[in-house]
Amino acid sequence: MNNYRTKYCGELLAENAGEEVVLSGWIDRRRDHGGVAFIDLRDKSGVAQVVINDEAVAHPLRSEFVLKITGRVRKRPEGQENPRLSSGEIEVEATDVEILNESSALPFQVSTALEEATDEKVGDEVRLKFRYLDLRRPALANALRLRAKVSSTARRVLDELGFAEFETPTLIRSTPEGARDFIVPARLSPGSWYALPQSPQLFKQLLQVAGFEKYYQIARCYRDEDFRADRQPEFTQLDVEASFVGAEDIYALTERLMGELFALIDIKLPSVFPRISFADAMNSYGSDKPDLRFGNPIVELTEYFKDTEFRVFQSDYVGAVVYPGGASLPRRQFDAWQEWARSRGAKGLAYVQFNESELGGPVVKNLSEKEREGLLKAVNAKEGDAVFFAAGERVKSQELLGAVRVEIAQRLGVIDRHLTGNTAPDTAIEDQLMKDAPFEVLVGKDGRKWSIVWVVDFPMFKSTALAKGEGDVAVGGGEWTAVHHAFTAPIDVEGFDKDPENALSDSYDIVLNGNEIGGGSIRIHSRDVQERVFRLMGIDEDEAQEKFGFLLDAFKYGAPPHGGIAFGWDRIVALMAGVASIRDVIAFPKTGNGVDLMQKCPAKITDEQRAEAGVDYEDLD
Ligand code: AMO
Ligand code: AMP
Repeated sequence: MNNYRTKYCGELLAENAGEEVVLSGWIDRRRDHGGVAFIDLRDKSGVAQVVINDEAVAHPLRSEFVLKITGRVRKRPEGQENPRLSSGEIEVEATDVEILNESSALPFQVSTALEEATDEKVGDEVRLKFRYLDLRRPALANALRLRAKVSSTARRVLDELGFAEFETPTLIRSTPEGARDFIVPARLSPGSWYALPQSPQLFKQLLQVAGFEKYYQIARCYRDEDFRADRQPEFTQLDVEASFVGAEDIYALTERLMGELFALIDIKLPSVFPRISFADAMNSYGSDKPDLRFGNPIVELTEYFKDTEFRVFQSDYVGAVVYPGGASLPRRQFDAWQEWARSRGAKGLAYVQFNESELGGPVVKNLSEKEREGLLKAVNAKEGDAVFFAAGERVKSQELLGAVRVEIAQRLGVIDRHLTGNTAPDTAIEDQLMKDAPFEVLVGKDGRKWSIVWVVDFPMFKSTALAKGEGDVAVGGGEWTAVHHAFTAPIDVEGFDKDPENALSDSYDIVLNGNEIGGGSIRIHSRDVQERVFRLMGIDEDEAQEKFGFLLDAFKYGAPPHGGIAFGWDRIVALMAGVASIRDVIAFPKTGNGVDLMQKCPAKITDEQRAEAGVDYEDLD
């Protein structure tokens, strides 16, 4: 290859025995045995064992020194093979050792062999501060390599389908899209600001007006939101838009693309993904991103308890979720569930245990004879199960039960064992939870379960008050704001504004294992419809012209029917890699507070920079 190496460490096999090789890499680990030093040399391909017979040569070598080794490959002595290494059948007897660089004492061990120990003992903060060291660990490095593979595969598929990649600007006008903008001062126009894009949405639509017809981009997006494990302030979308298409075309494209991506990890997704309506998803699973790796749907009991004497259940909505085998849980666990529910803003989480002889739990005394008798059947439980109830406002109660449902499956070890460390449940419980999954659940060789589904028939609008409660930035000053975004077409173009509450939009989300991994819509391409949507959202003509004038103007000049989708790239790769957070598939992520611990940013700027950027500029008119 070159002066530094003739082979990669991980490539060396028994058949290379006898060859002279040059290797370069880092010292993963060293061990000493009676005057002989064994060095695990690591490069991007893996690890090879190097034997150094000269004590004087071996003496100065420390972890993570960078070495160039010249030596001869030999088979390891019988019984000394290491099946965990691809090069485990051989070792390299060094004839020359050159130290290319030294390493200071490490803030934490990065050794391949100590990987698991490292994961547990080293805090997140120090790992993020020394991210470049953490990235030497194969688990993290492999997740990032998978990401590169996923991106190159997507590019290949989209190229084959006739899509072209375009870049769109990242210094743009602040356009409301549902989250808060990050803003950038403009030195050349003091007091004026750019915004960083929340997505390339408007540009990809303008590229359709321009006639490109099939666009994609692996695009960086910026949203000043509160962070969670599946959110970062800057994240990546695979963004797609096409002209002369309907929702079915976007579904077909997505199914082809996802199929090829998941083939990379040996999962054969169905060629057509099942669909569930937003309303069904909420009613049965209490979420617009339902986890369908198991069934156990929410059971509505509003009707069942309509004449109840129990104060808590005298409400707009009562629903329940079964905890299979939960009857025997100790009291303190049920108490902990109450706390869990309260920490999510609920008033409580009533429960009943279906013991063999009689019902148990503090709520039972409030139920009538008749209510007790029919309950097991009404909630579709059996003896030995417990059941949780939520009562109150419909959507809030359903969302609580939806979260309970997922939490139960996790605690029982039915899903996400690779993340929780929980053990597999007994097969009867697993079967019970799986048997009523609404669609086929795929199980990979590693035991991970997969369920992908389209969520469709979303409402067009939600009330502005509700959106604010969720921490979104409601777009427009009206009673209604868009559920997807203001450019999404209604299904009923004629009638949507007569009954905004019930109007559905031509939009779709793609949901994998309870994660929203993408979403999109067919767009409005007529100026008239766009204006009617803006009107409902309380955006008057002047405001619309000021904020989106460039888009509205473009629509005057023959905008084709068009639509698209954007995939949450970090989330997709995180799910494929089996990691808990999208941080683990981003080379240099931010912490939960949006801080880069390595660079120490955000950071103060100098007074000079402030003045120059016009940060403190006061508009006098
Ligand atoms: P949306 O806002 O649904 O749609 O975003 C698309 C997908 O991006 C991912 N995502 C995120 N990932 C990580 N961190 C975040 N903060 C974050 N926010 C969103 C999600 C989501 O499904 N322009 C439209 C798409 C369109 O209509 O074509 C848009 O941005 O996986
Ligand atoms: P209380 O009579 O208020 O003590 O409540 C009796 C039981 O009902 C307790 O287990 C509470 O946790 C539970 N509970 C209270 N409010 C609700 C509610 N809105 N939904 C479900 N359970 C509730």
